[in-house]
Amino acid sequence: CGIVGYIGRRDTAPLLLEGLQRLEYRGYDSAGIAIQSPGTGKAAGGLKTAKTKGRVRDLEDRLPKRFAGTAGIAHTRWATHGAPNDTNAHPHLDSAERVAVVHNGIIDNAADLRAKLAADGVTLVSETDTEVLAHLIAAAQAESLEARVQEALRHVEGTYGIAVLHADFPDRIVVARNGSPVVLGIGENEMFVASDVAALVSHTRQVVTLDDGEMATIKAGDYRTYTTEGSRTSSSPETVEYAAESYDLGGHDTYMHKEITEQADAVDRVLRGRIDDRFATVHLGGLNLDPREARAVRRVKILGCGTSYHAGLIGAQMIEELARIPADAEPASEFRYRDPVVDPDTLYIAVSQSGETYDALAAVQELKRKGARVLGVINVVGSAIAREADGGVYVHAGPEVCVVSTKCFTNTVVSFGLLALHLGRTRDLSVKDGKRIIEGLRRLPGQIAEILEQEPQIEKLAKEFADARSMLFIGRVRGYPVALEASLKLKEVSYIHAEAYPASELKHGPLALIEPAMPTVAIVPDDDLLEKNRAALEEIKARSGRILAVAHQEQEKADRTIVVPKNEDELDPILMGIPLQLLAYHTALALGRDIDKPRNLAKSVTVE
Ligand code: G6P
Repeated sequence: CGIVGYIGRRDTAPLLLEGLQRLEYRGYDSAGIAIQSPGTGKAAGGLKTAKTKGRVRDLEDRLPKRFAGTAGIAHTRWATHGAPNDTNAHPHLDSAERVAVVHNGIIDNAADLRAKLAADGVTLVSETDTEVLAHLIAAAQAESLEARVQEALRHVEGTYGIAVLHADFPDRIVVARNGSPVVLGIGENEMFVASDVAALVSHTRQVVTLDDGEMATIKAGDYRTYTTEGSRTSSSPETVEYAAESYDLGGHDTYMHKEITEQADAVDRVLRGRIDDRFATVHLGGLNLDPREARAVRRVKILGCGTSYHAGLIGAQMIEELARIPADAEPASEFRYRDPVVDPDTLYIAVSQSGETYDALAAVQELKRKGARVLGVINVVGSAIAREADGGVYVHAGPEVCVVSTKCFTNTVVSFGLLALHLGRTRDLSVKDGKRIIEGLRRLPGQIAEILEQEPQIEKLAKEFADARSMLFIGRVRGYPVALEASLKLKEVSYIHAEAYPASELKHGPLALIEPAMPTVAIVPDDDLLEKNRAALEEIKARSGRILAVAHQEQEKADRTIVVPKNEDELDPILMGIPLQLLAYHTALALGRDIDKPRNLAKSVTVE
């Protein structure tokens, strides 16, 4: 979910709506806004709210004509507790409508708190966990708004990023963070707050990121930070890395298209300044793992969710091949619930674009509690997982706005290539192989650009396959995670059912599905498994299946082949998925899907 708040001299509602638009990728089930009507002290005009199921543009249509104010908070929701309807939309108010709260996260003891409030005679109007906060703050006895919020939070178990507006304190917004991001944006005689810098950068690049357990009071002219216990904390503003334009569409119709086409530059950025030709290795400044420690690693375990998990699968393969350390990847959400054996000789690596996916963060916290060393492979600098990890690699993909990940995936996989090379060169990898991989890495941006030039042909292919009700994606060893990610891309953005299988497993079941209405996309690299992969194509063709191959040369058994440039065997997976991002994109376009905001999804899932 997304939070944005503003206090200053400008008219609040348009600023908040703009902020919400920029945060819509965090959730888009419903949206709402609360503002302080002009006036001062107890005589203030009170709070005005508007909220609706649906998108930010629906909220815009619903705003009353007179909706002026110079302080306000707003929210865009990805539903957890309660259906996405008008009543469950944030902000939530107390019964007297003096307190408004927007909230990200989950209050675990909401049911208990709701029961207690009801027993005290409070009428709860929504089904949400958030509403209890508004009532608790309204009931708090303390003098200041800050102390009332603290008093309310003492009853709460769970995670939150909140922003609070109170009709009796029109000069301020109080915010608090515990497990869900809150960033302050420092302007001139105006102040912003948001769950994500994306909402702020067009106004200010000076930001303060709150820590867990930290709160802040923002007023038009100043801000202060303190803990939920009330002791002051020090915080100096940092400058956001990317300029406001990086968050814009830049002439593209969708962010997905923009981000796919940015990949050559993005990969160039992740390599920049890191390659050491002299020692045929790479420098990873933030890794925090000295050569002795690197040599002591006996296993590598990679954890992530969604696309990041798939990037981790390719990463594990690269680490095993180049560093010869046993490595595997697992969904972070599963790992943390199976009471894993945490082994001191294992290097754990958490992968996350946002650095705030709750399941990944919780896995990292569990590992740290058990004394493990955890690295992060992360895009968003300073994000929760990046802070929690002992060190890591930033993937420098730049802001990614489309809910489905493309350029972050590619940069994450390239980052794993760097890490694998680095680990390899501290262990057994030869200078010759080190140089070979470095040359391969250097060829990537140019080869990505070559692949992207094939977009017109891929668009045609997408139209050919868009009538499929279901698609099978197959690959072997290096190609299998590519198939998994490509199938995820297709289902997320086009809603066509897709499933990935190791090509070798076809005969153990999925062959039963093969018929003309179920096309197969096959990843067929020119490596030692080429003949095996070709055999799988034969099996499919013999059963009248349609085949689209992604390969380094035209495949005779395939109906269509997308030919991609060959790199080093170990690095081929980086390139082979890229045409399939375009395939997913053009399939979704042909089907008229909402490409940047697929139904039911959100970019960062900060709840379990
Ligand atoms: C959500 C997004 C996916 C993403 C996953 C992990 O489910 O919709 O696109 O891959 O979260 O996100 P992360 O920020 O941890 O990489």
